Order: sequence, then C-alpha cells, then structure tokens
Amino acid sequence: MPRALIIGGTGSVGRATARRLLSAGWDVGLTGRDPARMPADIAAAGGTFTAADRADAGRLAEALGDGADLLVDCLCYGAGDATSLLPLASQVTSTVMISGKAVYADAAGRHANSAVKPRFGAPVSETQPTVPPGDEGYGERKVAAEQVLLGSGLPVTVIRPGLIHGDGARMPGEWVFVKRVLDRRPRIFLAHPGAVNQTTAAANLAALIEVVAAKPGRRILNAADPDAPSALEIGRTIARYLGHAWHEVLLDEAAGPVGGHPWEAPHPVVLDTAAAASLGYEPAGDYAATVTSEVDWLVRAAAGGASTRAIGDLDDEFFGPMLDYAAEDQYYAGSACG
Ligand SMILES: NC(=O)c1ccc[n+]([C@@H]2O[C@H](COP(=O)([O-])OP(=O)(O)OC[C@H]3O[C@@H](n4cnc5c(N)ncnc54)[C@H](OP(=O)(O)O)[C@@H]3O)[C@@H](O)[C@H]2O)c1
Repeated sequence: MPRALIIGGTGSVGRATARRLLSAGWDVGLTGRDPARMPADIAAAGGTFTAADRADAGRLAEALGDGADLLVDCLCYGAGDATSLLPLASQVTSTVMISGKAVYADAAGRHANSAVKPRFGAPVSETQPTVPPGDEGYGERKVAAEQVLLGSGLPVTVIRPGLIHGDGARMPGEWVFVKRVLDRRPRIFLAHPGAVNQTTAAANLAALIEVVAAKPGRRILNAADPDAPSALEIGRTIARYLGHAWHEVLLDEAAGPVGGHPWEAPHPVVLDTAAAASLGYEPAGDYAATVTSEVDWLVRAAAGGASTRAIGDLDDEFFGPMLDYAAEDQYYAGSACG
C-alpha cells in the first residue's frame, strides 16, 4: 500500500488530498497542531493524525518513520522551512511543496501583494518571471523556498495554486456570499463585479498531487480550476446552489467598505495549466462543481456543526468590512437605488 505524509494536513489542501489518496487505496498520515481539526470522515477512512508543529523537525521525522512514497508540505513559507524539509524529502519518492500564484511578477515587477496590482495580459504559465527570493514578503519567501527545494536535486514538484477553496480553508472567501444567504440578505453589493482572480479547488489540487505522486520529478506546475469565474459569477453560483435570490447592486468602485470582496483584481489573473495537463492531470470539476464542498462545510459550521470554530475565526478584520451590513444599508438608503 503506498504511503503519504501531509504536513499541515488538516487544512483545505491536506483534507482534499487525504480524501483523494485514501479513496485510491493509500495509507495517509496528516500532521497539524490541533487534533480537533482532523475531519472525522478522514479518520474513519483510515487517515492518521500526528500532532507535530511545523518547526519540530524531530516530530516530523517520527511521523515520516521509515519513509513514504509521497510527502506534501502545505506549510513551506521560506528558505528555512524548505531547508528543514530536505532530510525528509530525501527519504521519499516524490515531494510536493505548495507555493502560490503570488510569486508571479508582471513586466513591471508588480505582483499580487504589491501596492499596484499586476497586469499579465494573458494566462500566466510557469515560465512567467517571479519576484526575487527573499526573507520578507509572502511571494519572496515562497520563491526562496522553491529555490532551496528545486536546487536540492531531489524529486520535488512545486505547485502554484490560485485562490484556494475547499472545506477546512482558513480564509474561505466564499463566506462573504454564504453568510449573506444564511442571513437572508436581500441585496449583494459588488464593486468590480467582473474581476477575475484565478480560483483553485483543493480537490483539483489533490487531483494534480495524485498525478505527481505517480510521476516523481523536479518541476513547477500551476494548479487551477478549469474555469476562472468572475466575482459576480462566484456570487451567482453560490446563491443558486443555496437556493437564494438577491438583488445585485453592481458598483464601479467600492464605497468605503461597501462592495469589497476577496477576488479583487483590476486586471484578470488566470493561470495556464497546460503543463499539468500534459502530465496527465484531469480536473475533478469546474468551480461550480467543486465549490460545494466548502459551501456545505460553511453551512454546517454556521449551524453549529463540528467546525463551528472556523466560523468564529471568520469574524475578523478581513471579513468584517466585507460583511458590514449597516454600511450597506446606509449606502443603499442614501443612493439613487434606495
Ligand atoms: N489559501 C489560499 O488561497 C492559498 C493560495 C495559494 C497558495 N496557498 C498555499 O497553500 C498552503 C496552505 O494550504 P491550506 O489552504 O490547506 O492551509 P490551511 O487551510 O491554512 O491549513 C494548514 C494546516 O496546517 C496546520 N498548521 C498551521 N500552522 C501549523 C504549524 N505551525 N505547525 C503544524 N501545523 C500547522 C493547521 O492546523 P492547526 O492550526 O490545527 O495546526 C491547518 O490545518 C500554504 O502553503 C499557502 O501558502 C494558499
């Protein structure tokens, strides 16, 4: 029976990967800090949990034991993390490091986290220039980690996803729509509704990881949904799935907190997945088909289900302004549409 270890396995990527591999007959171990984040269905299917902080090399080595066929690191954020992964990677057949599209820079050096957002002009392939490696900045640290791993000579696949959706996600952007449905809000406010910022289902990432596990190699691969829905399409998909109708108030610009959403991008950001396809990757489904796992999970959690803690965590400074109903009502009452 092939064996996999997923570091930081109880989040969205780890859950989807564990489910995919378990159903294909793998023995799967997941690490994390809190055993309460281990999904019951994964444990029931035979997945095992080991409490191991990412910084605890000894515990991770224990979790790996005599080696594995596949090692997936969902918590590799810099050169130090990558260096500490090498002794483990040297004992496995195929290693996957989850990076991100934030590494890509446009011709003017702009990237996902720069003040002025990038303009790629076409789907972004793996040959697109990146930000330079560094110790500061999300993208810079990811590039540094990628370079340590790819420079090691080991069979490491770096995967660069877009905005990840899936159950167990730490920052499930779709919450801004799910919450509104649950609160029976009659209106949705969206600035730049046509914004396209590539989505990646954890289930699609998992499908790619399964391919990579069977074909070890040293390479970089984008991972994305086969479509790239706009913010408006994402909202409509979720409202339709949950059987809710709302009036769309589409804005050219956000009015303070009104209209903001997690897919903001002044210019489309779309990932080219031809390299993954040429390796044999086939998506598990498009955005509408795959987002249901996260939506169902959020609805269950909001109703007091097993993941209630996740919902508590969402009442924060990221989601708070996007769910400012008082500001929306005031804006609507004072606007021409009111
Ligand atoms: N989210 C996105 O949109 C996005 C986009 C592109 C790339 N990525 C990349 O995707 C990876 C994250 O995957 P994900 O979305 O599955 O992550 P996630 O949902 O944040 O899950 C990470 C898991 O790791 C555990 N964890 C966190 N800190 C830990 C630590 N110090 N030691 C041990 N376990 C720890 C967490 O559980 P406990 O808290 O219980 O330990 C959690 O279950 C990251 O490398 C990120 O850069 C994410």
